[in-house]
Amino acid sequence: MAWDANVFIDEAISKISSQIGNKKAVCGLSGGVDSSVAAVLVAKAVPGCLTGIYVNTGLMRLDETEEVRKSYEDMGIPIIYVNAEDYFLEKLKGVTEPETKRKIVGEGFIRIFEQEAKKLGPIDFLVQGTIYPDVLESEKGQKTHHNVGGLPEVMGLALCEPLYHLYKYEVREVGLALGMPGELINRQPFPGPGLSVRCLGEVNKEKLDLLRRADFIVRDEIKNAGLAKSIWQYMAILTDLRSTGIRDEKRVYGHVIAVRAVNSHDTSHAEWYKMPLEVLAKLSSRITKEMPEVARVVYDITDKPVGTIEWE
Ligand code: XMP
Repeated sequence: MAWDANVFIDEAISKISSQIGNKKAVCGLSGGVDSSVAAVLVAKAVPGCLTGIYVNTGLMRLDETEEVRKSYEDMGIPIIYVNAEDYFLEKLKGVTEPETKRKIVGEGFIRIFEQEAKKLGPIDFLVQGTIYPDVLESEKGQKTHHNVGGLPEVMGLALCEPLYHLYKYEVREVGLALGMPGELINRQPFPGPGLSVRCLGEVNKEKLDLLRRADFIVRDEIKNAGLAKSIWQYMAILTDLRSTGIRDEKRVYGHVIAVRAVNSHDTSHAEWYKMPLEVLAKLSSRITKEMPEVARVVYDITDKPVGTIEWE
């Protein structure tokens, strides 16, 4: 029999309610589709058991924190908001190695999350939006995927991972069947370490702000072109390169922004998106016009494998 989101929801709700019973759960929520769907399932299975914790790492996209906060408010999920931007910037100072960045963000997240969760009193479960491709890639040791890896052990929490056997498209179907807002369900995947892995080399506030502006233009133009739903993931990357350019007839030495857009079914394989040339032209002219710090815009034409979706 074909997989059916409503059948999955009924079964998941009954499993979760017998697992959690009258105990309490927390969930790290940052607007990601997987964790949000897991949280809504748990809140539906055991009303009142779940509190979400949103850690603002300062590695989020432009306006993202406010948009995400509003979505959870609209869905009635209680959420604690923590601004830890300065903490993460300090920890990332001088760090350039990609996996070290991931580790720092992951460990920092655990630390902040734990501090906040403790304030809630005794908690028994940690809800995680782990999905099947995460499990596969972590098993193969390709990348450390769970930003909260280690958290259950540190806090002595049991795990509740209701989406463990699902692929992303199935998670989206579940979210829509649960009546969650389309903007949240159709959000493109965003990595736990956030913009730190798209800001190549050392991460600092100035570089992150530049990247946020370029990323906003990429998202805005893709939306204007009506392509948002046709692309799995699209992003700007602030490379660690400088390049020569000309502005007002003077030589400048500016940043190089890379644009990447890919399509994928399961994240393990991805194909670079054959972006219409007029959209690429618009992206390039807007970025170079609105961002005087940028001297060059390039488009990434690499499939996965070999190139991972993220640049770091
Ligand atoms: P890669 O770059 O490995 O990415 O091709 C595959 C998918 O996973 C996302 N990604 C991550 N997600 N923590 C996450 O939660 C991470 O460290 C991480 N690294 C990559 C990436 O955005 C893509 O959707």
